[in-house]
Amino acid sequence: MVSFKLLSFSGLVAAAAAQNATLRYMPFGDSITEIVCWRAKLWEKLQGTEWATVNWVGSGKTENNCGDTKYDRDNEGHSGFLAINIANNKQLDGWLDKNPADVITMHLGTNDIAQQSKPTADIIKAFTTLVNTMRTKNPKMKIVVAQIIPLGIGSFNTAVQALNAAIPAWAKGLNSTASPIWVVDQYTGYSGSTDNRDGIHPNAGGDTKMMNVWYPALVQALAAAKADKAAVAMREEAFVA
Ligand SMILES: *[C@@H]1O[C@H](CO)[C@@H](O)[C@H](O)[C@H]1NC(C)=O
Ligand SMILES: *[C@@H]1O[C@H](CO)[C@@H](O)[C@H](O)[C@H]1NC(C)=O
Repeated sequence: MVSFKLLSFSGLVAAAAAQNATLRYMPFGDSITEIVCWRAKLWEKLQGTEWATVNWVGSGKTENNCGDTKYDRDNEGHSGFLAINIANNKQLDGWLDKNPADVITMHLGTNDIAQQSKPTADIIKAFTTLVNTMRTKNPKMKIVVAQIIPLGIGSFNTAVQALNAAIPAWAKGLNSTASPIWVVDQYTGYSGSTDNRDGIHPNAGGDTKMMNVWYPALVQALAAAKADKAAVAMREEAFVA
């Protein structure tokens, strides 16, 4: 048991500042994370909130002509990548070693379906590998997983719907208090033809729809990560007092 009497006021302020400075968020996925503007819109929506100073992290910094020169472009979106390949090649391990994160959002599976018609079960198995990697790198990782947007080209949406239908039960099965998984529905209310600029990637309207779906889940995940860090900071402060 920690006695709160041991805590100094200045120590608490320092701990609060430190936790502000260190919250790290990784947007992770394929081209629907890399060459889009929902990240810019999401960053803009966080300005003026307590999450304005969150550090977005990842190896990518692509500029997508989002009309915003200020947003934190760091992300781990990889155009053309399959969830199955990222998992099999252990690529997320290296990405998280290079850029550790407290919170991660994942929108993956589109290329598994559209490029290689991978079965739902194999994609879900890759998702499990990826979540295990996230938790190996950070046992308290807060995870937001998307049911993915529809495509406006080809006839892939039956497979997209099957993947999306499998995600909630899968996530529930892997859920934990230390490392919660929140599922967000990026499919419902999104049109593969009119919300995408090319049948695959969101146009301005699609970016806004995606941002609005990510936002409440991301804020919930950031709040959970912040609570963890505050608890750690208090324990450390009590220890040195
Ligand atoms: C945390 O960040 C917010 C938003 O930038 C800021 O208003 C607040 O003063 C910061 N708190 C500390 C303790 O640094
Ligand atoms: C996982 O648990 C959190 C609470 O820690 C809950 O908010 C969330 O909805 C759960 N996720 C799933 C997929 O059931």
